[in-house]
Amino acid sequence: MTVFADEAATDMFGRRLAARLAPGDVVLLSGDLGAGKTALTRGILAGLGHVGEVPSPTFTLVQSYDVPGVRLPVWHVDLYRLEDPDEVEELGLDEILADGALIIEWPERAGGRWPEALHLTLTDSGEGSRRLTARVPPAWEARWPI
Ligand SMILES: Nc1ncnc2c1ncn2[C@@H]1O[C@H](COP(=O)(O)OP(=O)(O)O)[C@@H](O)[C@H]1O
Ligand SMILES: [Mg+2]
Repeated sequence: MTVFADEAATDMFGRRLAARLAPGDVVLLSGDLGAGKTALTRGILAGLGHVGEVPSPTFTLVQSYDVPGVRLPVWHVDLYRLEDPDEVEELGLDEILADGALIIEWPERAGGRWPEALHLTLTDSGEGSRRLTARVPPAWEARWPI
């Protein structure tokens, strides 16, 4: 378990995680609204070289960061508004994994997909701090802790 005392700490963790992210990786981000899933995603994308905004893909569900300057193509996915777990198939998410990575907020909306993923959960622990717990799959054991 890790504690991020403030948003800057969450951001720094994201940047360090970015350095270890590889093609084919899926990072699942669980936690309530406002827990910091998108804030952590911003840190990851910044660490990969992205400069600029990271809007929540609330309605589009998927935001692609497959651009020059970003070390590894990433799709940022927010499944909060997914109505039926089977709808996730229509998003064609596997397509990015040959060359890039997926960061998925609200993965539980899609049921128990991605059993091989790194699964991070953020919890508000008061006064601007967040607690991080992780389920670390075999593919991440050599890369953990971050
Ligand atoms: N330690 C922290 N880490 C991340 N966000 C924090 C932290 N402390 C306060 N915040 C605030 O909590 C909110 C997190 O929002 P967001 O990342 O959009 O959450 P989520 O995507 O989980 O719904 C932001 O307003 C951010 O400024
Ligand atoms: Mg979010």
